[in-house]
Amino acid sequence: MASSTSETGARATARRTDELRQVLARHARAYYVLDAPEIPDAEYDALFQELQAIEAAHPELATPDSPTQRILGEVLEGLQPVRHVVPMLSIDTETDTTAGGAEKFDARVRKSLGLTEADAPVEYAAEMKFDGLAINLRYEAGDLVQAATRGDGETGEDVTHTVRTIAAVPKRLEGVTAPVLEVRGEVFMRRDDFDALNARQRRLIAGGAKGEKTFVNPRNAAAGVVRQLDAKNAARRPLSFFAYGLGEVVGWDVPPTQTALLDAFDAIGLPASPNHARVEGAAGLVAFHERIARERDGLPYDIDGVVYKVDDRALQERLGFKSREPRWAVAQKYPAQEKTTLLKAIDIQVGRTGKLTPVAKLEPVFVGGTTVSNATLHNVFEIRRKGVRVGDTVIVRRAGDVIPEIVGRVPGPRPAYVPNFRMPASCPVCASKVVREKGGVDHRCSGGLFCAAQRKIAILHFAGRRALDIEGLGDKIVDQLVAVALVKTLPDVYALTKDKLETLERMGDKSAANLVANIEASKKTTFARFLYGLGIRHVGETTAKDLAKHFGGIERLMQASVEQLLEVADVGPIVAESVHAFFNEAQNRGVIGALRDAGVAWTENEGHAAAAPLPLAGKTFVLTGTLPTLSRDAAKERIESLGGKVAGSVSKKTDWVVAGAESGSKLVKATELGIAVLDEAGLLKLLDAG
Ligand code: IVH
Repeated sequence: MASSTSETGARATARRTDELRQVLARHARAYYVLDAPEIPDAEYDALFQELQAIEAAHPELATPDSPTQRILGEVLEGLQPVRHVVPMLSIDTETDTTAGGAEKFDARVRKSLGLTEADAPVEYAAEMKFDGLAINLRYEAGDLVQAATRGDGETGEDVTHTVRTIAAVPKRLEGVTAPVLEVRGEVFMRRDDFDALNARQRRLIAGGAKGEKTFVNPRNAAAGVVRQLDAKNAARRPLSFFAYGLGEVVGWDVPPTQTALLDAFDAIGLPASPNHARVEGAAGLVAFHERIARERDGLPYDIDGVVYKVDDRALQERLGFKSREPRWAVAQKYPAQEKTTLLKAIDIQVGRTGKLTPVAKLEPVFVGGTTVSNATLHNVFEIRRKGVRVGDTVIVRRAGDVIPEIVGRVPGPRPAYVPNFRMPASCPVCASKVVREKGGVDHRCSGGLFCAAQRKIAILHFAGRRALDIEGLGDKIVDQLVAVALVKTLPDVYALTKDKLETLERMGDKSAANLVANIEASKKTTFARFLYGLGIRHVGETTAKDLAKHFGGIERLMQASVEQLLEVADVGPIVAESVHAFFNEAQNRGVIGALRDAGVAWTENEGHAAAAPLPLAGKTFVLTGTLPTLSRDAAKERIESLGGKVAGSVSKKTDWVVAGAESGSKLVKATELGIAVLDEAGLLKLLDAG
């Protein structure tokens, strides 16, 4: 028992490890390659650390290609790869954003160097952590010959053409003749340049320019500009640069400390990280961290933290490297930024599944590196919890980096006439009734079959394999049908003709004909499939079957009260309410009527709930082997439609075993127990008799 439990645990850990690697790889690509991150940095860091922790505890799961072992980010197509002579590493991030973070780093450094309390404090270079992208500048005999991004750390992209347009990057160093001097630093965009750029982009887009976009934040703008294939545009998009480190060096006297290096940069014409300080010990780091935290908002550019480096190069060498980061440096991030702004209105968004989400419309505010004008309020309870009303000054937080949030309201007087927020009683998109489940927090539109916001999901579900099974009516086709308004509600599917379908992209003569045939064939269905296909919330395949069996026909089901619905085995109050609300919505009933008018039909078992039991009621079947024509699902469906049950294993209670080709132990057991065995023909005969 114990061993099987731990085995399951080990398997779960291995599965989680795989999952983390995949997720991290995807987000790293979104961030580094596509310049379009999908999750906050803090969330990425948390996943990364989870993976690190698992690998530390289970060395057997570590692999050389794990994201923890390499620096992610691959080369974008179109830019030439550049192999870094000296790899471009990243730095460890200290997640503890309080003074404790700096103290932990100092303690690690002292321990690695074998220092005791009697020894003097370690000297550090403390710098700001600029939020842009790392660049390697290669100077040969003082001339800029190449600029490259970090890429995966080993190989970056050649961006010489765009970096040359940056005024802050000297094309020629002053008084440097060394054969090779590679300087590393950060290319970034100032906030005012970013605002101006986005304003210009908005004008271009408004003017109908194709292929233009606005940028989410200065960092992405900088990355987007640097990695353009065409340098023409880059020149009009001002970027800045600060130097903070070295790559390959041949014939240049490297200064003995980081502080001296930054000074040397200034002397040869390279702008060095400003606001850096040489500090002593943990106390010095903490004081620096606090000072920059105060100054952060007033800076003309974004920083997402500070970087501490052991100042002395000889000590740096003694400390050395872990697999991907130096032991002599650490980054410490700042907590998410918060700003206050005016809550102008609360709008309602109807999602693809019918969920109504209140969205705060804000006076645009620059917070955490982005201009925020909308923020989700999640649901009505969240609004009450936060106590916000239209007209309030609210605190907006951009947590980590991506999703803006309303933290709460700034206390103060508010006009008495502003009412508390209430969810609308009818859907803003389709006017169907809005409902909320008992105990749930979300409000939903109950016009699932009718509501324009929910069209795509409704159609896809209806056409799904386990519903009406319309092969060929998939994602891409449905997208198009909805976009060109050929299909607004389900019955429109049955009005599709070959000619209409042929107007769609990538829809040939043959596939249009096939789809029309499949649509036609779907009209003959079962009550359970139809019911499942309606996409009623909480009505899965099994519940649909139970309801179909219990009520026998659609009319009876549509008229059922909540109490009557509760009589169905396995139907609880939430399902009953959901079914009741669905059929109570006249617009849904209209759609069902129109589907039947279009020819969608099934056999009903009228009257069975009242009187005659189904012919196979109480009979248990076991299916084994492969039947010549019927699939397992089809056989099961037909048995169940007549009231029979299909069980997974043979026992004394089994009435029939249906055996096809390659039946194994179940057939043996049936013979042992003397249970009747049927082949497909026998089963069909039995079904037809019922
Ligand atoms: S030093 C071996 N100093 O932070 C250490 N990096 O993961 C190399 N960054 O991609 C980095 N400001 O783009 C260093 N003052 C600073 C920095 C800085 C920003 C970025 C850099 C790198 C990342 C570290």
